[in-house]
Amino acid sequence: MTAQKLFLERVAEMIADVDGPVLELGLGNGRTFDHLREILPGREIFVFDRAVTAHPASIPDGDHMIIGEIRDTLAYCGPRVKRPAALVHCDLGTGDPTADLAKAAWLAPQISERTAPGGYVASGIALDMPGFEEMPRSADAELGRYWLYRKAA
Ligand SMILES: C[S@@+](CC[C@H](N)C(=O)[O-])C[C@H]1O[C@@H](n2cnc3c(N)ncnc32)[C@H](O)[C@@H]1O
Repeated sequence: MTAQKLFLERVAEMIADVDGPVLELGLGNGRTFDHLREILPGREIFVFDRAVTAHPASIPDGDHMIIGEIRDTLAYCGPRVKRPAALVHCDLGTGDPTADLAKAAWLAPQISERTAPGGYVASGIALDMPGFEEMPRSADAELGRYWLYRKAA
């Protein structure tokens, strides 16, 4: 099992007592979406991407697939998502430090706005998150290159 899978399974346990949906930022080939819906049965998962390129078996239904530039869709998804998220999983890293810094600048406040008190943000890009605690990086987080933040309850 990969470090990413182990990490997401630990985070799934952490949100057990937090109400709200999961926001999956970046469908890609649907690998982490598949894993999240398997380990979080019954939890509503909204997935964001500018395009849908995953295998049909790894695509959410139309009500839960939010297509477009995340900078626009995350800001205006409130009427559709309705509740603040228990978990935001952000898999939008490019590997380019400058592009990732630029992305983090607009992403962090938008993610913060969408996260429930006590909710978690798991991100492949380091984010400046006032009002959140940065959780210690476990071995699987380190290997999976994840940062984990928890919003004050
Ligand atoms: C690394 S992939 C996600 C991988 C996915 N979590 C998986 O396990 O298969 C990143 C995805 O985010 C999408 N993406 C990146 N930046 C975006 C943006 N600003 N708006 C919308 N989609 C974006 C890309 O289209 C790509 O599909």
